[in-house]
Amino acid sequence: MSPQAELGEAMLNVDSLRVHYTTDRAVIRAVDGVTFAVHRGEAYGLAGESGSGKSTIAQTVLRLLPANSGIDGGEVTFEGTDILEIGEEEYRKKFRWRRISTVPQAAMNALTPVYRISRQIAEAITTHEQTRLKDSLSRAGDLLEMVGIPKDRGQDFPHQFSGGMKQRAVIAMALACNPSLLIADEPTTGLDVITQAEVLRLLKDLKSRLGLSLIFITHDLSILAGLCETIAIMYQGKIVEQASPESLFRDPTHPYTAKLLASYPDIENGRET
Ligand SMILES: Nc1ncnc2c1ncn2[C@@H]1O[C@H](COP(=O)(O)OP(=O)(O)OP(=O)(O)O)[C@@H](O)[C@H]1O
Ligand SMILES: [Mg+2]
Repeated sequence: MSPQAELGEAMLNVDSLRVHYTTDRAVIRAVDGVTFAVHRGEAYGLAGESGSGKSTIAQTVLRLLPANSGIDGGEVTFEGTDILEIGEEEYRKKFRWRRISTVPQAAMNALTPVYRISRQIAEAITTHEQTRLKDSLSRAGDLLEMVGIPKDRGQDFPHQFSGGMKQRAVIAMALACNPSLLIADEPTTGLDVITQAEVLRLLKDLKSRLGLSLIFITHDLSILAGLCETIAIMYQGKIVEQASPESLFRDPTHPYTAKLLASYPDIENGRET
């Protein structure tokens, strides 16, 4: 039985998705027939080696693919709407930030150095919702508190924040319009191990407090174990295996998964995050 069978209603369905990039030298089949679902309140982990197509899936769902890409087939349905079929305007108005949001791969660079943190979060809110700056600033303070940063630190500039705090602020910004799906692409890369654990704890906590669904992308399988209900392993543009963390770590069925697990001896010894 599918490990997701008891998770209830699917929120996002990706069906037979194929995406390529064209370069001077070649056509790269970055995503080559990928099907999966993310359920309400579920954390879905996408792991796999560099270049296996993880970010391309994220960019497709966020409709942020670059100009040299093309979608060759498949559907991406979010709460009943095929989001690859609708126009950019409709996607921007109804989906981006509001229902599907992201913590990008280079989250640390997502803050502008010259503006105070609260103002950046407030501007993200006013851009997407018809709110007055004063209300958005007050909401920015609440959002900072939600991610464990005292309100008054919103007066700081990004350089006054530690790496972990910047990452929390970017998460706060991503949650500004109450999205139901958060796509986090390598959100802890570049953070030290302790800060990384704190950010993961925060995401886990937000997921249960807000009923958020997550797509969490990483090369590091050990990160996914304590966070995700389901883990998918990507290899050369395909999902080669999908399972709950318990069954994946106990009994990997694909040789690539077994190889990946063998490179993380800690996982096999069993631990909790
Ligand atoms: N803008 C682009 N132009 C050309 N090729 C690209 C582009 N973006 C990605 N690719 C290629 O598409 C494939 C999939 O890349 P993608 O970034 O989705 O992988 P990934 O699994 O996210 O890797 P990483 O773990 O390194 O972030 C790779 O071969 C990559 O080189
Ligand atoms: Mg990537």
